[in-house]
Amino acid sequence: MHFKLLKLLADGKFHSGEMLANTLQVSRTSIWKMISRIHDLGLELHSVKGKGYKLSEPLDLFDHESILKNIPADLRVKIQDIKIFQSLDSTSSYTMELLRSRELNLEGNRLFVCLAEQQTAGRGRRGRPWISPFGHNLYFTVAREFNTGLSEIEGFSLVIALAIVRVLERNKVHGLGIKWPNDILWQEKKLAGILLEITGDPTGLSQVLIGIGLNINANPQSMFNVDQPWVDIKTISGSVPDRNKLIAEILAEMIKMIDEFEAGGFVAFKDEWEDFDALKGRQVELKTHTNQPSGILGKVMGVNKQGALLLQTKEGIETFHGGELSPRPVQNEQGNQPR
Ligand code: BTN
Repeated sequence: MHFKLLKLLADGKFHSGEMLANTLQVSRTSIWKMISRIHDLGLELHSVKGKGYKLSEPLDLFDHESILKNIPADLRVKIQDIKIFQSLDSTSSYTMELLRSRELNLEGNRLFVCLAEQQTAGRGRRGRPWISPFGHNLYFTVAREFNTGLSEIEGFSLVIALAIVRVLERNKVHGLGIKWPNDILWQEKKLAGILLEITGDPTGLSQVLIGIGLNINANPQSMFNVDQPWVDIKTISGSVPDRNKLIAEILAEMIKMIDEFEAGGFVAFKDEWEDFDALKGRQVELKTHTNQPSGILGKVMGVNKQGALLLQTKEGIETFHGGELSPRPVQNEQGNQPR
């Protein structure tokens, strides 16, 4: 019920307790209780005697119609369904459950999309949590069926990262880099993360779930638990994009790029991906297992035609298919770190 109240308050203007109670047909005490639940979502509210309640800034909540109308008609037909939740444990867990229980059957090459204003158990790569406060960022999962088997899907997550970067660049969010395979960074801080999961038959018909978290206008207080340097679009570009338009643009770009990828693989995207490679030519450490104390050292030499990582190690140029990269501190000619 407090989400209904939130919709009434989303315009950022004052609303009297009486008007809110009448509209929702509840008592003033219920409104007061709902207000405290809105506080618990991490949203700032002002209450002024004689004027009522007001959010400290307007909220641009997800809206089905606004998303659809911002996707060109020829691409819109490729969307099977968009489900919007105010709060969910995780858009990826929810979508996975729908697929495994066969409540959701993907139709041909169409996309199923699930998005949430808040996730209570958002998941990142390598078992990390993805902190997902209400209303200011994007958390969504896209599911799509493939019948090519997993080996073809290797470069897929790199293509998804590229789709997001293309859209952000068009929206004046410049200076982005991609850390292999698919972390989107700005000045070494994380702007967006992608979690790719697969169900079905890995050698035949499979369903791929693409979970995307993108920081837009994150309230630092609600992000205090994030365990890595992070950044949001507002900090980079100085403005906050309309979230419904932005997600529509990302979905449209994804639909085009996924179809192209299915037809021709990663190779057509390789050069463009490498233009955004955040660590190209850098000395790095690659950890292929979670909690591995030390990883493989080498220099990033780009990616191959399938999107696998090429590292110059002491054995020569080696190819890697998974893992987590971290840059090594830059050293001067004497091998010392600059002060
Ligand atoms: C990463 O660790 O970089 C991947 C983060 C992926 C987070 C997104 S948010 C939407 C979707 N639902 C989840 O639980 N995780 C993904």
